[in-house]
Formats: sequence, structure tokens, C-alpha cells
Amino acid sequence: MIIKTRKTSDVRSSEITPEHFFQQRRSIIKAAMASIAAWQLPAHALVEPQGNLPAIPNLKDSGIGGGLSPTEYKHVTSYNNFYEFGTGKDDPKKNSGAFKSRPWTISVEGECDAPGEIGIEDIFKLIDQEERVYRFRCVEAWAMVVPWAGFSLATLLKRFKPNSKAKYVVFETLVDKEMMPGTRRKILDWPYQEGLRIDEAMHPLSMLVTGVYGKELPAQNGAPLRLMVPWKYGFKSIKSIVKIKFVEKQPATTWETMAADEYGFYANVNPMVDHPRWTQAFHRNIGEGLFASRDETLMFNGYSDEVADLYRGMDLTKFY
Ligand code: MTE
Repeated sequence: MIIKTRKTSDVRSSEITPEHFFQQRRSIIKAAMASIAAWQLPAHALVEPQGNLPAIPNLKDSGIGGGLSPTEYKHVTSYNNFYEFGTGKDDPKKNSGAFKSRPWTISVEGECDAPGEIGIEDIFKLIDQEERVYRFRCVEAWAMVVPWAGFSLATLLKRFKPNSKAKYVVFETLVDKEMMPGTRRKILDWPYQEGLRIDEAMHPLSMLVTGVYGKELPAQNGAPLRLMVPWKYGFKSIKSIVKIKFVEKQPATTWETMAADEYGFYANVNPMVDHPRWTQAFHRNIGEGLFASRDETLMFNGYSDEVADLYRGMDLTKFY
């Protein structure tokens, strides 16, 4: 199979930004360039914090996704999939008013030498925050570019000392009928469950997210802690995590259990494997309105150089 890839940094910003914003930004950049003799800013400076939640301290620019232009905050926080709050895209924002992300404890168990619990405040103390911008494509042929704040999943996992039987990692979301009205009905087989192979989980690009646009996560985006695996479709990015488990066998995951022919365990972004009901070769960008351009989807979402080796020798039409 020929795998055509472009690095994420090669994606032209005109491809992800409405033309007039692109032109406007180009003239602003030109003016700025003219007034600064030596251009020393990093390719992607930290975004302006947005929203009314507490700011995330110690944010650093990881440089990943530099050059991509983030989707507006209002779209990132109002067009969501979080079935625990309802199935409509605007339900998570509308129905999450009663959600409380404190106190919050995550238990880590299974095939590891140091199982235990960790509170979200301790996670905040433990980590040196990074900021990364990911081009994030979801399962319904739409995409967003989101400036997530977080840290490598491996940093947390290693503390619990996974043993040699830990071949996969499973994640579970909170189920709380009071705060999460969607869980009062059997829309999905609660709790929402996702999984990664251990080498995928330990890959430095796999990220636990604590914030967006420089501030803590709003409930609808998975407060206080959610996963983000940038080379996979959005449904792998499980929200509001309360349990992490190391296991030996490939675990059942929510969407694979619901519709195995539509959603596989791997869920790698792959323009050559169509979803039975729509093409995966193109996507539209949220926030561009009616005239959104149809953009080509990149293999592994543009992260082939970094992750293709994880799948060497695998038939990706079978392991989708
Ligand atoms: N996590 C839980 N617990 N419940 C969900 O319904 N939806 C998934 C994923 N994580 C979901 C979830 C899907 S289908 C997508 S596309 C992403 O969250 C959306 O993340 P966003 O709303 O922050 O863009």
C-alpha cells in the first residue's frame, strides 16, 4: 500500500482557515515582519487564553502543530460529542451545568507494580504543562484545530510501574446520573471505555489534556482530564477519565462494541479506509460555515513520520 504523507507542518494555513482570515492574517504578519529586523518568535506562539475558567500555569509551547491556525474557542466548546450529556452537538454545553470536576480522583490498576489513586490536584502539581496544537479530525468528516494544554500520557502511566503483562491500557469515564443526564438512558453501554496498545499509550505524542486555549477544560470538553491521541479519530479521545487499567488482552471499546464494522479498535486516521457510510479521504473544518472547503485528510492525521513505525507490517484495512 502506498502511504502518501505530508508533515503536519507542511499543511498550508490557507487550507484550514477561511480565505479572508488567511489574507488578513497574511497582511498582519507582513507588517509585523517589516517592523522586526530579526524574526525570533517560535513558529507557534502560545494562544491567547480564552474562557472564564482558571488559567493553566507554566504553559510551554511544544511547537507541535505550529503553523496551524486554531479553530475559534466558541466552536471548540459548543460543537462537541459527549454522549453522557446527550447526543446533540450542542447538548454537552447545554446539559453540563451541574457537572463538578472537583474533587476528582483517578484510580490506576491492573498489570502494574504500583497500583493506586491520584487526585487531579496532585496531577496538576506533578506535571510541567505543555501546550500542543493538534489537527483533530473527528468521525463525521469534520475537523478542528485545537490548542490543547496537557502532558504526555507516559508521564502518568510510568508512575504506576506497568509490568511485562501490561500490553494494553484501558480508560473509563465517570458515570453519574445526577450530573450527566445522558447516562440516565442506555444510549451507550456505560461507562464509556477506550483503549490503546501500550506502545501507543507510551508514545510521546499521546497526551492527557487538562486545558484548552490556556485555561482549564470546560465540562463539555472532558474536564478535568481527557485523552488526546492526535493520529487517531476523535472517538479515541475519552473524556472525564476516572479509571486507567493495564491489561494483557485487547480490551472492548465503546464504539467497537456498538458498531464493529464502522469503528475499529485502532481508529487511526486513514484516508484510504472509508467509513461504511462516508468517505474518510476528505473533511470539512468546523467554523468555516456553509462555504467550508473540503480538505484532503492526511494519513495518521499528518503524523506519519512520528507514528507509522508502530504499525509496520500490519494490514491497516483489517486493523482499522
Ligand atoms: N468521551 C466520552 N466519555 N463520551 C463521549 O461520548 N465522544 C468521543 C470523544 N470522547 C465521547 C468521548 C467523540 S465521538 C469525539 S469526536 C470526541 O470526544 C469529541 O471531543 P470534543 O468534543 O472535545 O471535540
